[in-house]
Amino acid sequence: MLTGFMGAGKTEVGRVLAHRLGYVLIDVDDEIEKEQSMKIADIFREYGEPAFRDIESAVIKRLSEREGAVISTGGGAVLRQENMDNLRKKGAIVCLTASAETIYERTKRNRTRPLLSVEDPLAKIKELLAIRQPYYEKADIVIDTEERSPLDVAEEIIAGMRVYGKSNG
Ligand code: S3P
Repeated sequence: MLTGFMGAGKTEVGRVLAHRLGYVLIDVDDEIEKEQSMKIADIFREYGEPAFRDIESAVIKRLSEREGAVISTGGGAVLRQENMDNLRKKGAIVCLTASAETIYERTKRNRTRPLLSVEDPLAKIKELLAIRQPYYEKADIVIDTEERSPLDVAEEIIAGMRVYGKSNG
């Protein structure tokens, strides 16, 4: 299960990881958009962030019952313990990290993220990272993606999952 801030590389790493494991990749945001027939930005605008978080939790709960899947979550999913508990049922929770500057560079051309559609996205990234840091640290495996290829990161995750699996029976 992949967690981490927006732009930490969850989608790209998730694709490689799923391929290597022979699993399917399920992106929670994509599932939310399909289920609601609405874009994430529109859900935020029409219903607000708390309603989005409720939808996100319900989708994570449902997806965590699936076998043979790498589940990639939105950057804020870690904020609810309930989501962490549901994700952990299926195995290790992996958190991808990167610096605020790298996240800014990776996300600046993509305008689909409502939380970063602000005048000073870099300041917003720093603010949210500071708030969320303790939540991201709750992951079982934390991997820095700075200047590393998705394949390299995926290999490290697979190695980490073996160790995690051993220490968890
Ligand atoms: C969010 C991250 C987004 C999406 C929504 C909120 C967040 O997903 O769920 O815009 O709170 O960090 P990505 O991390 O896939 O961009």
